[in-house]
Parts: sequence; structure tokens; C-alpha cells
Amino acid sequence: MVTISVCVGSSCHLKGAYEIIEICEELIEKLKLKDQIELKGNFCLGRCTEEGVTVMVDDEILSGVSPQNFREIFQEKILKKLGEDGTDGSN
Ligand code: FES
Repeated sequence: MVTISVCVGSSCHLKGAYEIIEICEELIEKLKLKDQIELKGNFCLGRCTEEGVTVMVDDEILSGVSPQNFREIFQEKILKKLGEDGTDGSN
């Protein structure tokens, strides 16, 4: 199980946090990952000054996330993590 917390504080909201949540929901649906990914909104993660939206994947904070690069990040950070967990098909 991977937890994705998208910052929905005002600064990240303006940079497209909701769009990222929508893309994430769409990917979870499409790839049937509902049991493996928990998607949450989070209050300000304290990185407002960084570029882009702040997203936390488990305990790793990623900044500079945008609706344009989120799919790539999803693939690199989240799908990879799920693979490493060995959750793939084992339960
Ligand atoms: S509003 Fe997102 S890090 Fe502050």
C-alpha cells in the first residue's frame, strides 16, 4: 500500500493540486490500483516556496509536481514502489 498525499493548501491549490488529484484518480481507476493506493489531500506541507505542487508519497516529500509531469512521477515513484513492495499479484 502506498499513500499519496497531495497538498491542497492555498499555494499548491493555485498551482494545480486538484488537477493532480483528478489525474491520480483516473490513473488509479485505469490501472485498477484501488486496493494498493490511498489518495489523500493534505494541508500545507511547508514547501510553498518551491516550484509546483507538493506531493507526499509515503514519507517522501516531492515538490515541483505539476499536472504536466504527474503521470511521469506516478510511473517513476509510485508504480515502482508498488513493484518493490512485492504487492504485485501476491495478494
Ligand atoms: S500550500 Fe502546498 S506546500 Fe504549502
